[in-house]
Amino acid sequence: MGTAGAERYPHLFSPLRLGPLELQNRFVVPALTTNFGDLDGQVTDEVCGYLGRRGAGGFGLVVCENFGVQAGAKAMPRMLMAHEDRYIPGMAKLAAAVKQTGAPVLAQLNHPGRQTKSKFTGHELVAPSAIPCPINREMPRALSRDEIPEWEEYYVRAAERAAEAGFDGVEVHGAHGYLVAGFLSSYANTREDDYGGSLENRCRFLLNIVDGIRNRMGPEFPLSVRISAREFVPDGIDVAEAIEIGRAVAAHGANALSVSVGVYQTFNKLSMVTGEPEGQWLDLAGEVRAGIPIPVMGVGRLVRAQVAEQGLAAGQIDLACFGRASMADPELPAKIRRRREAEVLTCMGCNICLGRSSRPESICPVNPTIGREAEFDFVATASAQTVAVVGTSFSALTAAWVAAKCGHRVTLHGNSAQGGSLGGLMALRAKVPGNAVIGETAAALLGRAQAAGVQFSEQLPEAADVVWAVREFRPLDAAGPEGAISAAAVLEGDQAGEALVIGDDLCAAEAAVVLAQRGGQVTLLSPARDIANDAHPGFREICRRRLEAAGANIEVKVAEPFAHAARDQADFVVLGRGAVADWDDAGNWRLPEVGLPVSAYLDDAYEPGLLTRTVYEAVALARAL
Ligand SMILES: Cc1cc2nc3c(=O)[nH]c(=O)nc-3n(C[C@H](O)[C@H](O)[C@H](O)COP(=O)(O)O)c2cc1C
Ligand code: SF4
Repeated sequence: MGTAGAERYPHLFSPLRLGPLELQNRFVVPALTTNFGDLDGQVTDEVCGYLGRRGAGGFGLVVCENFGVQAGAKAMPRMLMAHEDRYIPGMAKLAAAVKQTGAPVLAQLNHPGRQTKSKFTGHELVAPSAIPCPINREMPRALSRDEIPEWEEYYVRAAERAAEAGFDGVEVHGAHGYLVAGFLSSYANTREDDYGGSLENRCRFLLNIVDGIRNRMGPEFPLSVRISAREFVPDGIDVAEAIEIGRAVAAHGANALSVSVGVYQTFNKLSMVTGEPEGQWLDLAGEVRAGIPIPVMGVGRLVRAQVAEQGLAAGQIDLACFGRASMADPELPAKIRRRREAEVLTCMGCNICLGRSSRPESICPVNPTIGREAEFDFVATASAQTVAVVGTSFSALTAAWVAAKCGHRVTLHGNSAQGGSLGGLMALRAKVPGNAVIGETAAALLGRAQAAGVQFSEQLPEAADVVWAVREFRPLDAAGPEGAISAAAVLEGDQAGEALVIGDDLCAAEAAVVLAQRGGQVTLLSPARDIANDAHPGFREICRRRLEAAGANIEVKVAEPFAHAARDQADFVVLGRGAVADWDDAGNWRLPEVGLPVSAYLDDAYEPGLLTRTVYEAVALARAL
């Protein structure tokens, strides 16, 4: 590997000693549950392939997704488990898959406490106190004083298993409201014994685990602790307590503190969506780092090397965690090192990966190789065909890339009349203030296709063996009440003025944001119980925040939006999903004019979940050629 990127980002590419580990650089993959284990919690080839690629991509440290430390410790149906010795061989395969790439790997150890469901765990939920998680709403049993040492021991035994399996060390998951965090925080811990009340008492569970691991594994065993330095809930942990916790774990022998934020109730702060500031929690990490004597890992929508480099240079962090960014592009550090930054497949912050338990078939609209990496080690076909892909949606860019990797001769036809700007409907999303990253992602997807040999043309194809064309779901461009325009048309155009926006989807909400920021008085009416219902809740929060900042009105559960008083004042009406009954009509699909017979249509979508489906279907289509 060259050193050019290292000159540009000297802090990111400098080594760091972490206990006995010599890290080659400061890029860290933080723990990211894949849900690729089997239903028994055993490691699968998918997990090994997934994490091995991150090690091979040049990350200085890989923290493996959380392992359950006790039989009832599942936070996800397919979470990896480490509560019995029979898991050690699978764990060993996973540790080896990463270590053979040269990257050190830690196993994160966790029990979700009250933040899970007994239908996943098959066990009653436990917590420091009998207070249900406000999100999961299932009453946990408060652990009795007598049984707590046994629960501390579960973590220690799991650490021993991780070491036996060959992991370089462990990270105790004390963040995000799970069992350890529950003990740490007065938000969840109202115990009146020596495990509750003062911070010293609330730290006891964590510190006994740290001591247990140190005593059992010796002073040289790498040990990280992850905490939420702000929980954003009443009585929750804040920076002053976080510093005390950090000092205590350091004094008990932890080698690093991973500084995250949030609990389930404040999850939008934890994995922030598109438009939230990159590196938002670096200041917080810096405050903690200033008060403790061990290295700090920082996290929070780190996407660009420059932001992480600044955090390192400013002394806010010692290590930079690229969470979803490492999912979207496992080769992020290697590309940056080779000064191929423009080729990084940038994570859009859509949070589809967070909803993967309900959408197990689709993980990421940017990187469909996740969890099936080996399938994408293509073998060139013996019967290459010429393929014309008309349109530049994410599905088109992906289909073109896959077909080219399979050895076909592919041309992508990006005539603006056919596919709009680069990225299809995502080009519209990229126009929403704060969403520029989506445009970068589209450009990187084009770069990936071109690197695989795809030609680009602004003309329509004249001949091809196979023609794939993008059709767009563009509801109500023509239909709808007199004078109404679609939310997509607002993003495409420059309308401004007093507007009534009707719709329950992300496109309507973002069109309302754009109109409000263009200066007009905007009223957004949703027939459903919230706005942006089809997207991750983080988008509801950020759209609401922006609309409120711009003085817009928002009303939900509006039964007769067209009869709303705001219609009389509005210069125009904008329609999104849910506004009219014929939304799903076939007539709402905009078909491209290609001039050749179309072999198959590719779909496009505005909402990230649907978009992901279109990308996975595009992969299947191209692989079947
Ligand atoms: C799909 C997914 C799974 C996650 N699983 C874990 C986990 O097992 N343990 C953990 O400490 N954090 C977990 N997190 C939080 C991430 O480690 C990280 O803190 C968060 O995504 C913010 O970083 P990012 O903006 O770089 O993605 C998860 C996040 C995502 C998106
Ligand atoms: S699914 Fe979305 S948020 Fe998750 S890694 Fe992919 S682009 Fe990023």
